[in-house]
Amino acid sequence: MTESFASFMARALHDPVLGYYANQIRAVGGSQGDFATSATLSPLLGQAIARWIKTSSVHSPDICDVIEIGAGNGMLMAEIQRCLGWWQRRCFRWHIVENSTILREQQKHRLGKSILWHDHLEQALTACRGHAWIYHNELLDAFPVRLIQYHEGRWHEVYVTEDSKGHKEQLQPLEMAPEKQSHFSAIAWQPPTANQRCELHESVYDWLNGWLPLWHSGSILSIDYGDVFPTLYHRRPRGTLRAYFMHQRLEGLEIYERPGRQDLTADINFTDFQQWMESAGLNCGWSGTQADFIHKHVRGASGPMVDPYGAGGAFKIFAHERMK
Ligand SMILES: C[S@@+](CC[C@H](N)C(=O)[O-])C[C@H]1O[C@@H](n2cnc3c(N)ncnc32)[C@H](O)[C@@H]1O
Repeated sequence: MTESFASFMARALHDPVLGYYANQIRAVGGSQGDFATSATLSPLLGQAIARWIKTSSVHSPDICDVIEIGAGNGMLMAEIQRCLGWWQRRCFRWHIVENSTILREQQKHRLGKSILWHDHLEQALTACRGHAWIYHNELLDAFPVRLIQYHEGRWHEVYVTEDSKGHKEQLQPLEMAPEKQSHFSAIAWQPPTANQRCELHESVYDWLNGWLPLWHSGSILSIDYGDVFPTLYHRRPRGTLRAYFMHQRLEGLEIYERPGRQDLTADINFTDFQQWMESAGLNCGWSGTQADFIHKHVRGASGPMVDPYGAGGAFKIFAHERMK
């Protein structure tokens, strides 16, 4: 069977039976997990987001719904609710959009029954009539990517064939409608290195275009690892794609080992992401590193989460606003 890398990654992560997130993941963080997130390593991010919700809702007190997309084991929302305290927590309706049955059970166990769970963001926004504070941490890096490689003077797409000996890659000329190509900065790039690889988050672009028309007011906080383009690919001729299995980072053909039993992920191209949000009419009210965001909201914060040369600098945060 031959399929595009994007199709392989979508199945490996989200196939309802065999997919890593959909049905195989044991835990996010801890010794049972394959990777840790900022939310599972420290309460600081939750404390900063709680402060962000508090400050935002002073200016728009009529927005009473909070939505987290892709909530992992629920630790981030639990910390946000703890920081807001009993009274303020009860001023909001809390929603989680989660497509993993296993993680949804863990969230229910941690957060109790007062949360409203949804399969899709469109459903959550309909329940809020389009007015909500929204946040997500390390969600977009779990979306499938189209994997492209510069070869003989033009971009090709990586396809994958599986046979009894394992997985083999092959290249086919990249095909994408001309009107869509302009939304992906890499396609117009002549890379300095032959055989440069890049990832296209076309699935994120399509996902945004599905729900953004249903969101009428509020702010969205997007937190992930990545960089602006082309800095993202400096000294990364093979791109940013990788797998995580038992806290080990795997690259090259190792990403095809254990499909459905290891995480697959790629950095976010924030140049593209910003352009998509702006062309949807959103205003970027704030952007910076995770370290900047935590320092802005949590007095006296210290440790790896705010280390500008570690996690504090690698993670970027964007706050986009939908004005009424
Ligand atoms: C890398 S984990 C991050 C978990 C959590 N946000 C944290 O910081 O610990 C990605 C999360 O997003 C969820 N997810 C991935 N794709 C999703 C989608 N399209 N819609 C909703 N949830 C999704 C996964 O099931 C998982 O809960």
